[in-house]
Amino acid sequence: STYTELYRPQYHFTPPKNWMNDPNGLLYHKGIYHLFYQYNPGGTTWGAISWGHATSRDLTHWEQQPIALLARGYPNNITEMFFSGSAVADVDNTSGFGHSGKTPLVAMYTSYYPYAQTLPSGKKVQANQQAQSIAYSLDDGTTWTTYDKANPVILDPPAQYSDQILNFRDPNIFWYKPTKKWIAVLSLAELHKLLIYTSKDLKNWTLASEFGPVNAVGGVWECPNLFPMSVDGDDNNVKWFAMIGLNPGGPPGTIGSGTQYVVGNFDGATFTADADSLFSGTTLPPSDSIIFADFEGTETFADLDWTPTGDLINQSPTNGTVPGQNPVTGYLGKRLVNTFLNGDATTGTLTSKPFTIAKRYINFLISGGYNLNDTAIHLKIDGQIIRSATGTNSENLVWQSWDVSSLQNHTAVIQIVDSATGGWGHINVDEISFSDSAVRSQVANWVDWGPDFYAAQAYNGLALEKRLAIGWMNNWQYGGLIPTTPWRSAMSIPREFSLTTINGKATLVQAPTESWGSIMSGKGLDRSFLSVDEGTKSIGSVGKALKIKLSFSDRDTAAAGLSQFGIIVRATPDLKQQTRVGYDFATKEVFIDRSRSGNVSFDSTFPDTYHAPLASNARGQITLQIYVDWSSVEVFGGQGETTISTQIFPSNGATNAEIFSIGGNTKNVHVEINKIISTWD
Ligand code: FRU
Repeated sequence: STYTELYRPQYHFTPPKNWMNDPNGLLYHKGIYHLFYQYNPGGTTWGAISWGHATSRDLTHWEQQPIALLARGYPNNITEMFFSGSAVADVDNTSGFGHSGKTPLVAMYTSYYPYAQTLPSGKKVQANQQAQSIAYSLDDGTTWTTYDKANPVILDPPAQYSDQILNFRDPNIFWYKPTKKWIAVLSLAELHKLLIYTSKDLKNWTLASEFGPVNAVGGVWECPNLFPMSVDGDDNNVKWFAMIGLNPGGPPGTIGSGTQYVVGNFDGATFTADADSLFSGTTLPPSDSIIFADFEGTETFADLDWTPTGDLINQSPTNGTVPGQNPVTGYLGKRLVNTFLNGDATTGTLTSKPFTIAKRYINFLISGGYNLNDTAIHLKIDGQIIRSATGTNSENLVWQSWDVSSLQNHTAVIQIVDSATGGWGHINVDEISFSDSAVRSQVANWVDWGPDFYAAQAYNGLALEKRLAIGWMNNWQYGGLIPTTPWRSAMSIPREFSLTTINGKATLVQAPTESWGSIMSGKGLDRSFLSVDEGTKSIGSVGKALKIKLSFSDRDTAAAGLSQFGIIVRATPDLKQQTRVGYDFATKEVFIDRSRSGNVSFDSTFPDTYHAPLASNARGQITLQIYVDWSSVEVFGGQGETTISTQIFPSNGATNAEIFSIGGNTKNVHVEINKIISTWD
């Protein structure tokens, strides 16, 4: 295929056409990297979920393979879809699927049954049930046979969770040598629990333990992974790494899905988190913040200078509970929850008193009940909505910081709007504050701080020292709306994971893994500057697929005001379209600003800036490795301890780059830019 459409990634994996979501069954076997993935063979939105398949020898050049598991009854009478799961090579033929010396590959996945039915195995399932099944391949992964005789091999969740049959999914299987057993890690999505099962033959499974909830628990938990890694390359110090998808409830400042990790130990039955990998509660705003609204339950609207209109006039804040509804306490530690908007089909607006924007961030913490997707918070200047965030459908928390540094001294109001298109529901506005550093809810270790890295999975079949993982570079918030055609969704760059001790704590460090030598074209740009003056420096047209390395000295930030250094990529010559990747010396954060990155209109939450903490190294230098493709930007900060992944949709002519230094000059700057050539011929 040619792969030259507008937005078509040149070195990120995409299927030629149709919808893709999670990577599945990542397995290295006989010199080949297998990538299976959630795939709709019949369209560009989620549906008819099957397992697509591609293979690679170098994780860079991929070859499409026939669909591995086609939705049963496709296209007209689908009775089973193949949700996410993983795959292993059963080299000892424990399953007995092998014969004539052939090694069986075995995949375990979630069967999703749209209808109640009695299966060929005689087992009965309910409508929309999720259960765990297996399939095997005797031709090294090309064709697969579902084990219909006994599927699903894990039919129901354990009895105490029998009400969770619709939310029991995403098995991650691996071989645990010390006990000579297979392990399957599964998610009870709504309960934020992982269940760990063991088996001798991949067919008969026994529940061994459960884990969670811990740390971030917004939305549902999905796509768990569990695997060992040595710490600091020392094979005598092995830790286990649990990776868990959250949807919604991703990193602070993002909306929608995200991925967290927990470091701990695993003994073949139980995963135990390290104490320093756990967080309790959220970080309250920094002490310099002025609390604008911090509801403790006794205030009335009048006390708080908010003007209610519509049905809300008849509502009054209550302390944490609404009669007949679940209080959303617990998540927030000490902070009380107050119902602010409430009730069936309420329509109304709460408008704050006008205020002058004087701090860099507006932070708000909102939690709520059902149908929050008809509820929005707006920042308005001169009657125009400047920033906006919308709730989502499930019970969740939204804690966000808006960077309003470019809006200093403007007079603004905050409005909370319930448009009541949904039915029953309530919203709790816990807190709105202003501060000079972003409020971060310290609730998790984030694998990636951007909006577009989800359902990540690591390869089976590699040695302990090699942990390669791939994520879905999209987000359930807007995944079905991104303006690409005839395909939808890309995979992240494959990443090599390792654990490094940083500030005394085993921390995930990531390195992008492509066979770079084969896709970097000619001599790139390579320049050093003892000092880059305040202002911008155009580099001209550099292209649309780039590998960039930027390093520079940290800066003292005694002076007030913005203090940043970075690079603008995928810019049109007039800079109307641009994506900024940079470092904020005051907040010690790397950021990607995609608010003007091109087509951002398909979802109101898409245009935004994403931040991640990053400290300078021992020599006071900051290094950013930036990977630009036709519709994405990923940044790896420092040694890879911080990453941000974002999609962007710039126009074809957006090929310019420019360096920027704000709030002073920047010392010891080194810029390398290499063009990346297409991996598709
Ligand atoms: C995560 C997910 C999984 C599920 C799959 C369905 O993105 O929701 O939990 O198995 O997608 O396509």
